[in-house]
Amino acid sequence: MTSSPRPLVAVTGGAGFIGSHTVDLLVARGCRVVVLDDFSTGKRANLARWADHDRHGLGGREPAVEVLTVDVSHGLFAALAPITAAHGPVERIVHLAAQVSVVHSLANPLTDARVNYGGTVQVLEYARAAGVKKVVFASSAAVYGDVATLPVDEDAPCRPLSPYGVHKLASEHALHCYAAVHGVPSVALRFFNVYGPRQDPSSPYSGVISIFADRAAAGRDLTIFGDGEQTRDFVYVGDVVRAVVDAALGDAPGHAVANVGTGRETTVRALAEILVGLGGGGSAIVHAPARAGEIVRSVARVERAAALLGFRAATALRDGLAATVAPPPVT
Ligand code: NAD
Ligand code: UD1
Repeated sequence: MTSSPRPLVAVTGGAGFIGSHTVDLLVARGCRVVVLDDFSTGKRANLARWADHDRHGLGGREPAVEVLTVDVSHGLFAALAPITAAHGPVERIVHLAAQVSVVHSLANPLTDARVNYGGTVQVLEYARAAGVKKVVFASSAAVYGDVATLPVDEDAPCRPLSPYGVHKLASEHALHCYAAVHGVPSVALRFFNVYGPRQDPSSPYSGVISIFADRAAAGRDLTIFGDGEQTRDFVYVGDVVRAVVDAALGDAPGHAVANVGTGRETTVRALAEILVGLGGGGSAIVHAPARAGEIVRSVARVERAAALLGFRAATALRDGLAATVAPPPVT
């Protein structure tokens, strides 16, 4: 199976944090990109560099990005029809659109099921009908729940502790089913805790690094839920999108699953201390009760992604945090 020289790649959730970095790298690799996003948390500003439609639209000069406003849990077929009629078939799909908060999913499990599982089935139905050559899915370390052996590998039992984790795992099963029964090749990448520029700190459901960096820069208190001894594997977005794009442009058949993390475990307390330092030291660290459904320790085994994709996370935490606090200029 070979790609056309400038494959058309659909990126659901492409206006979001990881999505917009994915779009940037796909364009840098010579792809044409169609973004499908409902802008529930995504922002047009994340795609601002591609906003000059005459130059960047699919019919324009290179590079090429088209942005469609659509809810992926319905309306995918109708939204893509005029694009494919004019520009040819979607060859590959990177499916990132989701409700991304573990806490939100506990309060709103049915919404999470509709968007996070229903959205994946919509994407797979489209991929089956259109003969898409690869679907890459943003799965999560949340599929594992609390595990007995760390670092966790992909063959560990999955016992998610939140509807978010349940629907990510259900989506993985759907990917496997569509690969086995309908011949839709796919890769589920289990992202650990991704951070970097463009992660939105504005909601209480936002990722911890975006919240802590924002508060430390303003000299405000950082609130740790629980004692701060819980751990995460924080992986820089610039590394993550290399794994995503390499998986999307690859031609392996069947279905594969791989962790995307660093293999390094960091406590939330240590993270808070680094970010207080980077913010100038004016913030205090305070504590609030631990969250329900909280995973206590999380760190990835990274050998599978290395074997499948040649992927290794290259960015040290301090470097990634420095780039997050003072993002590099847009080129
Ligand atoms: P994000 O909120 O920035 O991105 C999600 C994007 O999906 C947004 O642009 C949002 O507007 C869009 N979206 C949400 N519901 C939609 C719908 N029904 N239809 C169309 N678009 C919709 O968050 P992110 O951190 O960039 O997450 C991207 C993906 O990676 C998600 O699938 C998330 O579950 C997964 N993930 C993220 C992390 C992390 O640490 N950030 C870790 C594991 C997995
Ligand atoms: C995150 C992602 C989720 C992903 C998962 C993979 C977000 C919003 N969630 O979930 O999409 O699938 O990683 O591992 O990006 N914390 C504080 N204070 C705060 C905020 C958080 O102490 O102000 C703590 C939390 O209690 C938790 C840790 O920081 O222990 C990480 O929380 P969070 O960034 O919300 O991520 P996860 O729940 O791990």
